Amino acid sequence: MTHRHLQFPRGFVWGTATASYQIEGAVHEDGRGVSIWDTFSHTPGKVYGGHTGDVACDHYHRYKDDIHLMKELGIQSYRFSVAWPRIFPEPGQLNAKGLDFYRRLVDELLKAGIRPAITLYHWDLPQYLQDQGGWVNRDTAHRFVEYAQTVFRALGKDVPMWITHNEPWCASFLSYAIGEHAPGHHDWREAIAAAHHILLSHGLAVDAFRAEFGARPAPLTPLGQGAAAGEAGDDVPRIGITLNLNHVWAASNSPEDEAARRRQDGFFNRWFLDPLFKGAYPADILEIYERAVADLGFMRSDDLPVISRPIDFLGVNYYSRDVVAAGDEGLFKVRHVPGGGPVTAMGWEIHPESLYRLLSRIRDEYTALPIYITENGAACQDVVVNGRVEDPDRIAYLEAHLAQCLRFIEEGGNLHGYYVWSFLDNFEWAHGYTKRFGIVYVDYDTQARIPKASAYWYRDLIQANLAMV
Ligand code: FCB
Repeated sequence: MTHRHLQFPRGFVWGTATASYQIEGAVHEDGRGVSIWDTFSHTPGKVYGGHTGDVACDHYHRYKDDIHLMKELGIQSYRFSVAWPRIFPEPGQLNAKGLDFYRRLVDELLKAGIRPAITLYHWDLPQYLQDQGGWVNRDTAHRFVEYAQTVFRALGKDVPMWITHNEPWCASFLSYAIGEHAPGHHDWREAIAAAHHILLSHGLAVDAFRAEFGARPAPLTPLGQGAAAGEAGDDVPRIGITLNLNHVWAASNSPEDEAARRRQDGFFNRWFLDPLFKGAYPADILEIYERAVADLGFMRSDDLPVISRPIDFLGVNYYSRDVVAAGDEGLFKVRHVPGGGPVTAMGWEIHPESLYRLLSRIRDEYTALPIYITENGAACQDVVVNGRVEDPDRIAYLEAHLAQCLRFIEEGGNLHGYYVWSFLDNFEWAHGYTKRFGIVYVDYDTQARIPKASAYWYRDLIQANLAMV
């Protein structure tokens, strides 16, 4: 059998991931409200080719077939996100039909024997909240908790895995300072406030979760170590957060480049890891922000204990590494330099070793909590030839990254599962439909689904792992 070198311990979860705005479509259906991504994608010049999520993969209507296909591929867990504007299309107005969709989705998954993993916020903020400042407004954190509580109550006991936020760095800095994502602003103070309120909303939602489901369960221990709790028999609901983390390298070993590496790491990684796991923002970055923005009064002294509430696991999205040198521009005076390795269709360097280093660093500096890779994958130039899609580059990418996951586990690392990004080709944010990340190809004219070679490769890998334990 192939795959022998990728034999994971029993209990490792094999999953795949998507997000609501990227796949659902049906934006006017069943009372859904408007999100910031509807507004943004319909604003000329914001998204490649004027693409929008209006139809996307039409998953809202095709979820049964999609889940059926997941089942055929042997997928064990499906990470999806709930569209907040389907649940609260207007301020304070609960939309039962919106909730119903996710009820049906969860039921269908359970019927197929697939573990649902819900992300509460994968970037589709209700537009009415953005009109009040969005994440820059502290009140949005409280609105988030109301929304989270509603979904916990409706689906909680059937969903073992809950993720408050997907990639707070993107939802704050990329969206409010760099302007590449909705709402497309260019204001550092806004971005820092947004990041803070997103983290605050995470902590408040964890409190609401505990109030709903009781005390924090004992954290899962490393797989393959005797008494480790088996995932299958242990379905108490757990909650965590997903960060996008990049392992940062210095372009040279000069002290200047090393200092640039530290700043970039602080901006991207430590700004989120430190408050979550150490209850404090990193002092060096705080100083840069204080100088640039002056007034950080939105950070209240009793927020950090909330932000650092104990969670049950950490979700990590990993795609690439970052190589930096000292520069003269921007807040951080960092220059990004090509790492020199092969890149994917996103232009992101393929560097599997950095995933291993990142996981080891999290364990050494932050937490022994279980980690899930909640996203990892590659965009490739996929084409259909005679009804088939051969994507050897994606297979090689997945294989190489899984090998680094296994290396971490074999050294005692507490990694419990892996979710390929993505199940379907989908709306890749500012790139529209031009970047294909799916293990399943989507023909956007017909909505036909064509599993790529990587989907069959993943199926066989899962099967081989189940057969061997
Ligand atoms: C991540 C996002 C996900 C997808 C991948 C490629 O930043 O969480 O929605 O766009 O990148």
